[in-house]
Amino acid sequence: MTFVSLKELMPEAKKNRYAVGQFNINTFQWVEATLRIAEKEKSPVILASTDRIVDYLGGFKLIAATIKKMVEEMGITVPVVLHLDHGLSVERCKEAVDAGYSSVMYDGSKLSLDENIANTKEVVAYANKQHVSVEAEIGSVGGTEDGITSGIKYAAPNECYRLVEETGVDLLAAALGSVHGVYQGEPKLAFDLMQEISANLNEVPLALHGGSGIPAHQIVKAIEYGHAKINVNTECNQAWVKAVREYVEQHPDSHNIPEIMQTGMHAIEKVVTEKMHLFGSSNKA
Ligand code: 13P
Repeated sequence: MTFVSLKELMPEAKKNRYAVGQFNINTFQWVEATLRIAEKEKSPVILASTDRIVDYLGGFKLIAATIKKMVEEMGITVPVVLHLDHGLSVERCKEAVDAGYSSVMYDGSKLSLDENIANTKEVVAYANKQHVSVEAEIGSVGGTEDGITSGIKYAAPNECYRLVEETGVDLLAAALGSVHGVYQGEPKLAFDLMQEISANLNEVPLALHGGSGIPAHQIVKAIEYGHAKINVNTECNQAWVKAVREYVEQHPDSHNIPEIMQTGMHAIEKVVTEKMHLFGSSNKA
């Protein structure tokens, strides 16, 4: 089985008002837990490595080859997307495409709009030749991810339209008040802007970054207003740490690594199950 791209999954998700979860990977245990639940839930799934975690996990080629093997060995039949999250340069996106990723995000959000468009266009031209999907970002998602901290900068509608029209990306991460990591208080998503932008993008869906910690009713509304991909990282990590910490506290003399790791893995599985139910992607594969 090969990975599918978001070109295959997004139009149907946007049309039928559900979102496919992007679950970030921190070790291959995250992959195993997420794949197992995707198969159980009959849900399409997006596995993503942030650019910064790629080297830590052994590089693009190792990640793509390992996950491909895991998909085969685990007998996974649901569609699996392997996605580069926050690609930091055009070259890194090309490397991911060459290694077998089926989707890449080019994050030019810190650049001027013209530079963002020019670079994203180059990524799209390269990726399209391999049927690899491309996500672009505009505005600034707040919070901290992989050690990088940013303030929230809301995406401007006219910039969103230009970026999508001039580059031909498959989906857009328009920063609309979400935050990577932990929210301070209730998230303040700009639903008015979201509705306006999504309506004008027609079939092109929005991607919601910082999906951890957003209350269920806001997630449901974000899907209603055009989000077809929702990214989750922090909640899986928090669940893993909590479960492993509790296990170690309760078994201070244990060095049974498989048991300790399984405890963490089950905690991830629980989060992934809940998200698939909330996003409406269960039974959509
Ligand atoms: P969280 O860590 O807040 O869930 O965000 C994940 C994300 O948006 C990855 O790009």
